[in-house]
Amino acid sequence: MKKVLVVYYSQTGQAKEIADSVINPLKSEFEITFEKLKSKEPYPFPWKGMSFFQVLPESVKEIPCEFEPFGFDPDKNFDLIILAFQVWYLSPSIPISSFLQTQEAKKVVQGKPVITIQGNRNMWVMSQERIKKRIYDLGGNLVGNIVLTDKNPNLVSVITITRWMMKGKKHGDGLYGKLFPPAGISEKDIIKSEKLGKVILDSFRENDLSGLQKRLVDMGAVKINPVLASIEKRGLKIFNIWANLILKKGSYGDKKRERRLKFFKYYLFAVIYLISPIVSLLFYIFFAINPRYKNKLVEYYSSNAIKFN
Ligand SMILES: Cc1cc2nc3c(=O)[nH]c(=O)nc-3n(C[C@H](O)[C@H](O)[C@H](O)COP(=O)(O)O)c2cc1C
Repeated sequence: MKKVLVVYYSQTGQAKEIADSVINPLKSEFEITFEKLKSKEPYPFPWKGMSFFQVLPESVKEIPCEFEPFGFDPDKNFDLIILAFQVWYLSPSIPISSFLQTQEAKKVVQGKPVITIQGNRNMWVMSQERIKKRIYDLGGNLVGNIVLTDKNPNLVSVITITRWMMKGKKHGDGLYGKLFPPAGISEKDIIKSEKLGKVILDSFRENDLSGLQKRLVDMGAVKINPVLASIEKRGLKIFNIWANLILKKGSYGDKKRERRLKFFKYYLFAVIYLISPIVSLLFYIFFAINPRYKNKLVEYYSSNAIKFN
């Protein structure tokens, strides 16, 4: 039997649920080892007060956290590594970027095929660029990327996901529940993702993983919105400036950072609700005039290539 290592992190269970659905078809032919990432200092869920903003600098700068001892054997010869995770602040969540900086990750990823499975709101492209690079630097071969997102309108999902993160409740009640959909990725999409696992199984049976990503993309495993990707690119640059400013006041959890974090919070909501609709419109116009550039961008971000030509 071939051996798969599934390393995952998930606060609400969403990323794990997606991974379970995708992995389901592999169960008959693979021995599967699950490794849940547990940081020494757990990240709160639901997020209370400013804690949601406290993780901005460490997420953006990929400053690693420490882990409880891993349960898997890093010297075992796995045939496939699956990473299941999510994006925090246009960046890989701290647990996943930290894992990719460990010696254990180096041991298991080096020379091995890797598949990434993500459950995000809808802005994940810049994060994946960094995940691609980390896997490449570890000597791994990224053969597949599957991303499920919240398909509700951008400004609606900001409200529902923020509420979910702060209250821990996916479904709303009362008038809110009538006005807004449940937060996160639809159950239907999670169940449907099982078909992507069948493609992975077929590629293994055919002993050819080189065309896997193309097959996954053809089945809708990754959908690029060039407007959102372009906003992310600019947004991440500004997040970097904020991260530097906040880090000057102390490290993760330091109360001295809170004043700057509050300013960041106001900035974030102002950008999302006031500036991003205007910028989106400008990018729509830009891509309507430049369809060839748009197609090139979509093709690149859908792929596992690490250089845009
Ligand atoms: C601190 C924080 C920041 C987030 N930032 C983003 C983001 O930039 N883009 C995005 O698409 N989703 C973002 N999300 C939503 C997550 O990607 C994910 O959908 C949600 O946290 C549920 O994941 P989990 O329960 O599997 O951990 C963020 C969530 C948190 C907690």
